[in-house]
Amino acid sequence: MIPIIQPVFGPEELAAVAAVLKSGWVVQGPRVEAFENDLAAIGGADHAVAVSSGTAGLHLALIAANVRAGDDVIVPSLSFIATTNAVWMVGANPVFADVAPDLPNITPDSVDRVWTPQTRAVIAVHQLGVPFDRQEMRRLCHDRGAVLIEDAACALGSLHKGEAIAQDAEFSVFSFHPRKVITTGEGGAILTNNPEHAERLRRLRQHGMSIAADQRHQGGKREQYLEPAWNFRMTDLQAAVGVEQLRRLGEIIERRRLLAARYEVLLAKCYEVAPLQPRADDHWNVQTFCVCVAPGQGDPATRRDEVLRRLNDQGIGARRGILAAHLEPAWHDLLRDPLPYTEAWAAQSLALPLYHNLSDDEQQQVVDALVEALGHVP
Ligand SMILES: Cc1ncc(COP(=O)(O)O)c(C=O)c1O
Repeated sequence: MIPIIQPVFGPEELAAVAAVLKSGWVVQGPRVEAFENDLAAIGGADHAVAVSSGTAGLHLALIAANVRAGDDVIVPSLSFIATTNAVWMVGANPVFADVAPDLPNITPDSVDRVWTPQTRAVIAVHQLGVPFDRQEMRRLCHDRGAVLIEDAACALGSLHKGEAIAQDAEFSVFSFHPRKVITTGEGGAILTNNPEHAERLRRLRQHGMSIAADQRHQGGKREQYLEPAWNFRMTDLQAAVGVEQLRRLGEIIERRRLLAARYEVLLAKCYEVAPLQPRADDHWNVQTFCVCVAPGQGDPATRRDEVLRRLNDQGIGARRGILAAHLEPAWHDLLRDPLPYTEAWAAQSLALPLYHNLSDDEQQQVVDALVEALGHVP
């Protein structure tokens, strides 16, 4: 079996977890703080607030943006389901914008087309780590008085026109699920350049408490609960892994870019698949190596699904590329404008195995199996 992804752990992660266990302090504490400092530096933001998942991060960003029940929030349907579900979590209404034909991201134009008088925020996704046009999207939201929340779940280490993904961001939300370039098992973080947002987010992630948990336990200070809130804390065990993973980030991304370039060479003559191409002036972390399978005579998704089935039968852990929320039962009934590019991406995209220790032989096996599958599926 060649899996879709395999995390990269070494003795450093093991030692870091052991040190936390020996310390006796396993919940949110000094390792979370260290992880946040490193993340803020890498993301180009003043503050990082670690949380239990990327989904929790989106949820809290919406609360901190003062999005309320009945507000509209523009999102791509083409994204992992958490992007849309986060809007539902705060009682607001998701409004789907279409993506570009050549990139799986919503654009200022497509957002403008679905804007409503109730639009309070936009969640734009750096899909598969490919940056969207941050400056233009920020300008649009700023001019209309809406908040831009960047779903950067996949985008740690990507650069847009030389800028880190959270530079100047109001809210940029990352995930550390194992499908991402680095992992803490589960985990997420919100990066922001606004100190008031940072302070509120720290409160919202732990029951609305006025002081940090370690101050409360170690310093004997009495806490107050300033507003109703959640428990979305990351543990020090996770953060200790995260600190070590961040040290490897540069090396991991270089390796992924090399493997992606090699896939492109190996697939150069396979005209039935088109690898995703980011913009030339962006530095892509290659969170996923994604190709679009050319539609055959019939339904394009049927052809992609048949190719996928054949790959999986051969022990190749490929996956469908990007889902569209409006095609899933949970969001099928939502009224919306047509989403032709979203549906094309959802039908044709296919994710191939990509991980640090993928060998040349394994990569060749993936390509051979793909070429064979395409030959059998007209
Ligand atoms: C675009 C996007 N947004 C949000 C999430 C949710 O992150 P998590 O799984 O950490 O909750 C993910 C991934 O899993 C994602 O790919």
